[in-house]
Amino acid sequence: MSNSAAIILAAGLGTRMKSTLPKVMHPLAGRPMVNHVIANLQQAGVKQIACVIGPDMPALEKAVAPHKTAVQVDRLGTGHAVLAAKDVMDGFDGSVLIAFGDTPMISPETFSRLLSAGTDADVVVLGFRPHDPAAYGRLVVTEGKLKAIVEYKDASDEERAINLCNSGVMCVRGSKLFPLLEKINNDNAAGEYYLTDIVAIARSQGLSCTVVEGNEDELLGVNSRVELAKAEQLVQDQLRENAMINGATLMDPASTHFSYDTQLGQDVVVEPNVFFGPRVTVGDNVHIKAFSHLEDTSLGKGVVIGPYARLRPGADLKDNVKVGNFVEIKKAVIEEGAKVNHLSYIGDARVGPEANIGAGTITCNYDGFFKYQTDIGAGAFIGSNTALVAPVKIGDNANVGAGSTISKDVEAGDLSLTRAPQKNFVGWAKKFRSSQAAKKAKK
Ligand code: UD1
Ligand code: MG
Repeated sequence: MSNSAAIILAAGLGTRMKSTLPKVMHPLAGRPMVNHVIANLQQAGVKQIACVIGPDMPALEKAVAPHKTAVQVDRLGTGHAVLAAKDVMDGFDGSVLIAFGDTPMISPETFSRLLSAGTDADVVVLGFRPHDPAAYGRLVVTEGKLKAIVEYKDASDEERAINLCNSGVMCVRGSKLFPLLEKINNDNAAGEYYLTDIVAIARSQGLSCTVVEGNEDELLGVNSRVELAKAEQLVQDQLRENAMINGATLMDPASTHFSYDTQLGQDVVVEPNVFFGPRVTVGDNVHIKAFSHLEDTSLGKGVVIGPYARLRPGADLKDNVKVGNFVEIKKAVIEEGAKVNHLSYIGDARVGPEANIGAGTITCNYDGFFKYQTDIGAGAFIGSNTALVAPVKIGDNANVGAGSTISKDVEAGDLSLTRAPQKNFVGWAKKFRSSQAAKKAKK
């Protein structure tokens, strides 16, 4: 659709969310709801998108950038909200989709169907037949044509019996949209300017109005955290299914949590209870063991992580790296074939290829004010329970003795250790034990 635009309504306060965050900013699969709507509209080929927001919503303005925003100061209804976008739309005369920021699961295909219907009709409404029509607006269809939308509050018993409901989404011919909106009033049960009134007004002017039907699951609106959780469930199910269709094994799909942008290679195995935050890329033949948590991370081919691995932003594991249990990695490149197998923290670091990091190794990267870098060379061997006080460099094929605190660079091929000298006391333990045992027997 070359000539289409969209207006997303997102000025509502979302009081039922009980949140200081604007409702449409609440994330689904790691991305604000409103950005799901934007992405699906873009996939349907919509180029120009404007978002109607409330006053004092700078975070929302930023989240939808570079798309334009219009501020609706007083929230006087959905029709009033669309009118707020008039200047931003600047006389656009192609098809204009109107979508809600809190209805994030409408697929690109559904938006495309509305746009296609919009080439023949002046107003196209996305209708659906929900399980429970509840308080949705009702679509009054006579002789196969959409005659009006009646809000539940204003509907007669006969109209309330209609099971074809208004999803809220419409596609309107751009040249007609604002002239129609300028004709609506707030003479109704809610005292609001209803967007839905444009249907009856359009018909009275001899314009054509039709309905395209959609599926209830896509049209779930989010008004509370309970509905947010339902939406998350539906989105997760879709992401899990896509992952499996594309060649990943999810051992327990229901306990794998994806982000909207998780990328998995082929023959990836994901054990139960794994969380993918945003910006994770996983190469082919990777094995992610149970209870691992990943965000903003890249895994090369053949990597094995977990169980209980924590990969934080900037973790970059090259091919065949192994990261074991209770290992945390942040902003660090782990080069090909290196191993960090147990109980370690590697942050602000580079670990060279084939290096071996012993259990309990800590990069001490922070002095309370600044962060510093640790560089570990190719093939280096870091003994267990080592503290590497950054900034520090360990050369290629160097060894560090277990239990060391290393604060100066170690040259390639050297051994470094800071261990206190060991003293052995011959027979001491035996004597001590028998004297203590004798005291205890007397009591
Ligand atoms: C609307 C429809 C109803 C439909 C239902 C589907 C109207 C008059 N009614 O009712 O037919 O069945 O959606 O969910 O359109 N908004 C603003 N500014 C406002 C008012 C609303 O930006 O002044 C935004 C809200 O943030 C929300 C959307 O518009 O994203 C819908 O508003 P809402 O109050 O939820 O409309 P409903 O009463 O549910
Ligand atoms: Mg609503």
